[in-house]
Amino acid sequence: MKIDVLPVFGKQTDYQLKDTTVIVVDVLRATTSIISAINGGAIKVVPTIDPGDAVALASRLGARECVLGGERGGIKINGFDLGNSPKEYLTRTVKNKTVIVSTTNGTGALHSVKSADKILIGAMINRTAVAKAAACDGNDILIVCAGTDGQPSADDLLTAGAIIDAVRIYADVREGELSDMGIICETLYKDWNAESFDISKTFHYSRLVGLGFDEDVKFCFTPDTTDTVPCYKDGVIVKL
Ligand code: MLT
Repeated sequence: MKIDVLPVFGKQTDYQLKDTTVIVVDVLRATTSIISAINGGAIKVVPTIDPGDAVALASRLGARECVLGGERGGIKINGFDLGNSPKEYLTRTVKNKTVIVSTTNGTGALHSVKSADKILIGAMINRTAVAKAAACDGNDILIVCAGTDGQPSADDLLTAGAIIDAVRIYADVREGELSDMGIICETLYKDWNAESFDISKTFHYSRLVGLGFDEDVKFCFTPDTTDTVPCYKDGVIVKL
């Protein structure tokens, strides 16, 4: 089984998506919030790139049926019900609703891989569960990181490494099957786990802390708090 990591979405070829299980990661915070929305009882999550499209879809479905969530620059979009804090999605607000989300990078990353056969939603909170689901498929694995504004983001790379580390529990990853980027991510994860890499100094993490989202980053970086693995198919995200 080959494993590769795309550090920033948008540069994959169709070849990479063929017969491949894709895991999309935007650990801070879009994919963590999407997993939380499913755990909060949402019927489904619909990711949109443009906030205007999110509003248009919500007005078609009707306010009673859906919840609008998302951010730009980390801050809740004006007029939306929720921002992008995972804990907001664990409340009764999303229960039995369709959650429509638009975020700066994460929802774009999801749209960029929609031609893939199988797309799973990954984060630190479900790293072992998502690794198990992907490993049991038996396909090659491509972890697609959202990054931040077109640049690789250490938080996503570290999480990709955490998922690769967990894949090894369920599948034999032979020498040469893990790409150089995968080796870099796994090394970063091991360093973080051994407390020799400090994620708090990195750009997106420290920006969120600066905006007052300390609780969010702690939540997002607590490994294996859930077994929920959402999957993205035909424009909607539901529990696998
Ligand atoms: C994004 O999609 O860029 C984010 O998840 C940003 C954030 O709210 O932390």
